[in-house]
Amino acid sequence: MHSRVLSKDEELGKRDDDFKPKRSPTVSTLTQPWRWRKRRMFTVIAVMLLVYVFVHNIPTDLGPIDQRVGMPLRPGHVVDATGGPQEPSGAPPIPSVGREEAGTQHYYDGPIKFYKLATSLHGIANTLGARPQNRNILFAVSSLQSAAGLMPMACEMAKWDRNYVHMAFLGRDPLPLDDILEVNGVSRGDCTVYFHDARADYSEYSTEQRAEVSIAGAMKHINDFMHPQAIIMDDSKVEDTFFTRAMRNKAREYGRSLIEVPAGQYEGFLWMTRLDSGSLSNWFKPNIDILIHAPPDSSGGLIRLVKSLESADYAGLKIPKLTIELPTDVEHFAQEYLRDLDWPPIADPSPVKQSALTLRHRIPTSRLSSEQASVRLLESFYPRVTEHNHVLVLSPQAELSPLYLQYLHYVILEYKYSSYGSPSSDDLLGISLDVPSAFLNGSGDFLPPVTADMPAEKYKDIAIYNQNAAAPFLYQAPSATASLIFGEKWATLHDFLSHRLAASHAGKTEKTKKLVSETEPAWLEYLLELMRARGWSMLHPAAPLVTIHNELSHIPEEYVREKSTNRKDVETVPELEHLEEEAFLTASAPPAVVEHAERQQQTPQPLHEMLPFDGDLPELPHLPVFYHNGDVLTAPAATMLMNEYLPVFRQQVGRCDRPQASRKRVVHELATDDLFCLPGVELEFDSESDESGEETARAVIEKTSDAAGHVAEGGGSVVAQAKVDDEG
Ligand SMILES: *[C@@H]1O[C@H](CO)[C@@H](O)[C@H](O)[C@H]1NC(C)=O
Repeated sequence: MHSRVLSKDEELGKRDDDFKPKRSPTVSTLTQPWRWRKRRMFTVIAVMLLVYVFVHNIPTDLGPIDQRVGMPLRPGHVVDATGGPQEPSGAPPIPSVGREEAGTQHYYDGPIKFYKLATSLHGIANTLGARPQNRNILFAVSSLQSAAGLMPMACEMAKWDRNYVHMAFLGRDPLPLDDILEVNGVSRGDCTVYFHDARADYSEYSTEQRAEVSIAGAMKHINDFMHPQAIIMDDSKVEDTFFTRAMRNKAREYGRSLIEVPAGQYEGFLWMTRLDSGSLSNWFKPNIDILIHAPPDSSGGLIRLVKSLESADYAGLKIPKLTIELPTDVEHFAQEYLRDLDWPPIADPSPVKQSALTLRHRIPTSRLSSEQASVRLLESFYPRVTEHNHVLVLSPQAELSPLYLQYLHYVILEYKYSSYGSPSSDDLLGISLDVPSAFLNGSGDFLPPVTADMPAEKYKDIAIYNQNAAAPFLYQAPSATASLIFGEKWATLHDFLSHRLAASHAGKTEKTKKLVSETEPAWLEYLLELMRARGWSMLHPAAPLVTIHNELSHIPEEYVREKSTNRKDVETVPELEHLEEEAFLTASAPPAVVEHAERQQQTPQPLHEMLPFDGDLPELPHLPVFYHNGDVLTAPAATMLMNEYLPVFRQQVGRCDRPQASRKRVVHELATDDLFCLPGVELEFDSESDESGEETARAVIEKTSDAAGHVAEGGGSVVAQAKVDDEG
């Protein structure tokens, strides 16, 4: 242990020769007892000295270093290595002729020493970096241009105060650290970043290989003392190649995320500074697959949508895979367009680039039942890793904002990976890019909330927040226009639909009234049931990142009425062939397409300026919540509504009898068997919390069973009751 640490210090510019007891092996200790005792005394003293030096110079877990060394620890503070060995100045000796790189300035490949790294690293080792899990984020730079680009980002991140921000200089440039800061207009008072000068001696003269090795060596020390959770560097296209190589190797070795800020996008990526270390360390985890379902005659919209996808901003992010489901008849121009479509859209000259586009084409020409249509759509995606693989469902009416992927990435990282994740993020079904303008049933004016409606006191400060500005919100309603659905929710929906279909085919079931407008695809109705049973909601932005076009909108084929039929027979005649596959009662009149407000997308600006609250994402419990019918909900009311819906669903759809339906069940991850009583499936009752739920549940069933089949109305009356409770 001692020797390891000492040798580390030796590399860091200290020497340990002085503390090693001198040894003269020729002297026989047995024949000269006095000298032997004297030697032993000296040895003991030397060991004590060693321990003393160790305790004083090497950080241990004895307490904060500033107390022990009497050195004030504050960000931006760099202690001069006075007393220690001085770094040599001037050029190192020029090697004899015959060297490859001789003649250039980069000829030196002697031993590597770090004279300036020890002080700043020792200053943090015991406080910020002691634990492998911490809040340290490292910005690493080599070239001075990259330093200039990343420094404002680092200072901004430090200002948000969610992470301890460090910046290490690892390049060849000889400019002293203080001068680099001054040139970039950074004052240590305003910018609370911990700066580390990790350049080796003679770095200016290093050969390419020595420069690379010295970066690897410096990164080892930094990793040992700091355990950075994520490392941020400039685009590898603009950084020094030896630096990129060393950083990639070391980041892989230590298992750290190495995030490259795309060249020149320092401002465009400022939203990243609002993320905490938990989110940043998981930067590369989320995967998004795009799923476009193109109904017949939607080619115009499809091309417009794909064009917006192609021209979106993907720099620095993983480009999603794209799956397009084509109808039986594809128009000629759409076929032409898809033939030339190059996905992913990167200007990569490599001929071995792999296409990430999948086309699926429908064979049957007959109209699908709502059940078939739902199954078809849901089966076109399944997450490989449920925590990390998500699906973005897009309708051909949509046209995306160029920043859609940055937004999704930002929101996923914040709500799914933050180290301070709240339990409510488990109730998040997904992220919509749209702001609805009508209610779920397709009628009325849905009024999105403003900042004044946010339940958290924090946002009521009129001096800071414009109370009339639009606010993001949670809505317990599904949408298929432009919605990302999290992998685990999608997998649960698969499980739910398996049970749901088995239940509705197991015998005659009461059909429930459809709540979602018939202008929306059928699978949303099933998703709504699951959302209500689980209390999930969808996050909507304050301002949409998608334009929904009306001129090409149409009704999903599963709900298209055949024109020839008499109005009275509309419900039965066209659906006769698969009546058992229509689980919901549709309206007697054909659905009318309602205009979606075509909200103007904002002028291009960085994401953090586009979002409210200075680009900071509010905590989920601070957001307004809407029930599926548009009523505003408080958290307790939402839980109550869920607990009241569960027994109703189990009895009306899940084939449970009344006593079974009202008992609490054990909920398994990704599974929904607790919502059903199907033959052959064992019922696992949750005996611990059984008592409390039973009474209310039974009461609810009594109340709603009169209006059998109309879960909607039951829900409505309950909301009113919940509201009264809240006021009381
Ligand atoms: C649609 O839903 C809204 C909100 O729940 C309700 O006020 C309205 O009456 C409903 N319209 C129809 C036609 O059911």
